[in-house]
Amino acid sequence: MNTTTTFTMIKPDAVKAGHTGAILDDMIKAGFRLVAIKHLRLTPETAGIFYQIHKERPFFNDLVAFMSSGPIVAAVLEKENAVEDFRKLIGATDPSKADAGTIRAKYASSIQENAVHGSDSNENAELEASFFFSGLERHPDFL
Ligand code: RTP
Ligand code: MG
Repeated sequence: MNTTTTFTMIKPDAVKAGHTGAILDDMIKAGFRLVAIKHLRLTPETAGIFYQIHKERPFFNDLVAFMSSGPIVAAVLEKENAVEDFRKLIGATDPSKADAGTIRAKYASSIQENAVHGSDSNENAELEASFFFSGLERHPDFL
């Protein structure tokens, strides 16, 4: 199977609660290789651009306010079958429906404050990784 890329964010609720290290450890132990990472705070504008696919949804304004409420950790991960396997690792959007042992079951508190983001397709993983990271940040071996 080919190695593929996914993109993740540790959301403001989980960063604020001090779960960054434990969540990164879960990702690495599940076989994901960390190829780029940064800690930053989104503005309402940049959070709105990232989640523009949801702009007509009733939860959009709350989502933008939440995602810009504090720092996040953004990262690019690689693994065979990365997108699908990562969605399995994080669990369902609503943590009360997430399988035991998944990152959202362990660290999320609500359907909105759900600890992590994971790309939902290879195409979106590439778009999302490129939104946060330059080619040089993702491919330091080129230096
Ligand atoms: P994500 O994009 O963050 O990985 O989450 P997802 O695919 O599991 O869920 P999605 O449908 O893409 O929703 C994006 C994020 O919006 C918030 N949300 N709030 N209040 C609500 O009903 C509601 N529904 C979704 C969550 O933060 C969700 O992860
Ligand atoms: Mg999504």
